[in-house]
Amino acid sequence: MAVNGLQDSAERNVALLIVLILLAAVVGGLVQIVPLFFQLSTTQPVDGLRPYTALQLAGRDVYVREGCYNCHSQMIRPFRAETERYGHYSVAGEFVYDRPFQWGSKRTGPDLHRVGGRYSDEWHRVHLIDPRDVVPESIMPGYPWLADAELDAEEMQDRMRALRLLGHPYTDQEIAQVSTALTDKTEMDAMIAYLQGLGTTLKNR
Ligand code: HEC
Repeated sequence: MAVNGLQDSAERNVALLIVLILLAAVVGGLVQIVPLFFQLSTTQPVDGLRPYTALQLAGRDVYVREGCYNCHSQMIRPFRAETERYGHYSVAGEFVYDRPFQWGSKRTGPDLHRVGGRYSDEWHRVHLIDPRDVVPESIMPGYPWLADAELDAEEMQDRMRALRLLGHPYTDQEIAQVSTALTDKTEMDAMIAYLQGLGTTLKNR
């Protein structure tokens, strides 16, 4: 039979075997990836989702720079153990304005996707300066320097203009007001604004 003949050849011919394995992997990969390009739910923002404000966007940059994603995920899986602890599971439409998203892959600390509104700003401030002041057994490092670091308004304006090219609906007015919005704000304020907004669009329904 033809199939047996092919199997027989593949088992005797390493080059053919490699080609067939690659072919199987390519077809398998395409079957998983291509439908996502046509799935509206992966590109449509959930109702009420707004792009990050200038302050939140600056905080997000600090989050990436400091490598918070090495210990924290932002992806609640649809399992009961997760939803009871963290809240509504994460959906694709919540990450439309995240470039790139901060899903992470390791949870040394808790998931942060719905941490917005869970604590007061002051709690975050104390916690970020020295986590042991509020959680004595914490192994999270402190980030005290954020409280002294200034923000660069011009850079944030450029950032928002670039994101607008990619489809984030920032208005000219929002971009013009960035320097007012960032006056007297530190990286600490930015980080807290970012954390307090996380996952709130779905949570507040
Ligand atoms: C070495 C790993 C590690 C790093 C890096 C780290 N964290 Fe944490 N984080 C933890 C651990 C462990 C906890 C749980 C104990 C605690 O609350 O301090 C935690 C808790 C938190 C909490 C409270 C979450 C909750 O639901 O109670 C927030 C908010 C947080 N981290 C933010 C950050 C931010 C922002 C950064 C980066 C500036 C960061 N973490 C970096 C390990 C880490």
